[in-house]
Amino acid sequence: MTKKDEKKRSNEVPKQAVEPYSRKLIRLTVNGKRYNLRFGDDVEPWESPAYDVYPWDTLAHTIREMLGLTGTKVACDNGACGSCTVLMNGRPILSCSILTADCDGKEIITIEGLDDPVTGDLHPIQQAFVDHHGVQCGFCIPGMILSSKALLDKNPDPTEEEVKEGLSGNLCRCGNYSLILKCVMEAAKAIKQKG
Ligand code: FES
Ligand code: FES
Repeated sequence: MTKKDEKKRSNEVPKQAVEPYSRKLIRLTVNGKRYNLRFGDDVEPWESPAYDVYPWDTLAHTIREMLGLTGTKVACDNGACGSCTVLMNGRPILSCSILTADCDGKEIITIEGLDDPVTGDLHPIQQAFVDHHGVQCGFCIPGMILSSKALLDKNPDPTEEEVKEGLSGNLCRCGNYSLILKCVMEAAKAIKQKG
């Protein structure tokens, strides 16, 4: 083999390394509903959107723009404020800071998935935010509620300090922290009473 052939060969990308990346499905379960999203990168989306998910799409983008679940809010889009929090396999994550391509097979809960699917009743945490005036502009609230859910699932009887710590990644630009704290403490009581 000549030097030229060797160089050409070393620059070739093995076909099997490209195909699984450029054409596959991303399977997500969102609020109990299963989605098979077509994933690809070989067509410019502004010319002809051929896929549901592109390699650069964040989970927040997919949830909002592809699935139409706009309860998930994007504020900083930079991993700094917690507004985009959703639950992934029960744990709170920042959906603006994870690529959908890395979420294959995951179970996601957004704020739209918290109410009772049979009765339509709000989740006790949502109800507490209504009853105890946790909401001002409301932009941070979906993230606050989902972080609270993760906290109360793990620790049903938290102290105020533990709630502050559990919500420390969620910023409220309206500064409504004292009422938000009250809402979470009241929600913990309501969940305990409900059994
Ligand atoms: S929008 Fe994701 S952390 Fe701020
Ligand atoms: S209620 Fe407005 S940002 Fe929290």
